[in-house]
Amino acid sequence: MNDLDQLVAQATADFAAAHTPAALEDAKARLLGKAGRVTELLKGLAGATPDEKKTRGAAINQAKQRIEAALTARRQALADAELEAQLKAEALDVTLPGRQRGNGGLHPVSLTIERIESIFASMGFDVAEGPEIETDWMSFTALNNPENHPARSMQDTFYVDLQDEGGRWYNLRPHTSPMQLRYARAHSAKYAAQIARGEPIPEIRVIAPGRTYRIDSDATHTPMFHQCEGVWMGENVSFKDLKVVFTDFCRRFFETDALTLRFRPSFFPFTEPSAEIDIAFAEGPLKGKWLEVAGSGQVHPNVVRNYGLDPERHIGFAFGMGPDRLAMLRYGVNDLRLFFENDLRFLQQFR
Ligand code: DAH
Repeated sequence: MNDLDQLVAQATADFAAAHTPAALEDAKARLLGKAGRVTELLKGLAGATPDEKKTRGAAINQAKQRIEAALTARRQALADAELEAQLKAEALDVTLPGRQRGNGGLHPVSLTIERIESIFASMGFDVAEGPEIETDWMSFTALNNPENHPARSMQDTFYVDLQDEGGRWYNLRPHTSPMQLRYARAHSAKYAAQIARGEPIPEIRVIAPGRTYRIDSDATHTPMFHQCEGVWMGENVSFKDLKVVFTDFCRRFFETDALTLRFRPSFFPFTEPSAEIDIAFAEGPLKGKWLEVAGSGQVHPNVVRNYGLDPERHIGFAFGMGPDRLAMLRYGVNDLRLFFENDLRFLQQFR
């Protein structure tokens, strides 16, 4: 091996021993820099004969090219290694199982309300929602429940410490009955125009489910509970229609014809006559027991006036039922409070 071959071998070994770009550039400077070994060799030709310059010069240049090629290869190898290391460090293990989230499910009361909505929707009822903070007028006065009237104490109401510019007091609505007024009043101008054009008396057919509040707490009462209001008004919608609609609803809700309804005379200020609706199953664990599921009646003329309608023309019934009670009966739950304690072990059973 001549001296130039040796130099190339040495350079290649030096480059291989350089494990960082900086070390590699140092090694390069020692060979190809201003005072580097190759540069020195070329300078050494200064005193040589023209023939020597030609052969020796060509050999040195060839060696220089081989060293430069080795340098380029090593530079590339170092860059590749660095990229590889970076990729490795940043790699994601896509085979690692993700964090599991349990499947959600609807609350049993939500499932019950959806069920009520779909049955009434199939009978042509609209579904409406309204505010849980109500005026005294909507909750009581307009429902024929005058101030200081003893019937107000049927509901132990939560009052809100809030009075607006009109001097109106607010409460957490003790029932969904204000929705009768809100729905009818929202449409009364349209109805009046229809009647003025000589069209038939427009029907109101709506249910309004939602949260309601009373100062009550025991196995069958919670301070927050649900109600679903229903109204069907028209030219002459009677108590008979109420019986048909509610019986059909109960049979479809409980998926059985083996149940009987009883309309038990009662009092509500906003209906006349009024009835509580009780049901009894002909079979199953609750067989033969009368269970109260709703209040109902023919809407009182004073209330129809507050709808913004003429009680001589708009006649019909209303009812208010308890979806929580219906959920208890359907699922066989004996304590209402279980629904609202948010214990997943209980709620997961209804998914
Ligand atoms: N609002 C009544 C209550 O909370 C239930 C009720 C009774 C609603 C008779 C009605 C009705 O619409 O006609 O006890």
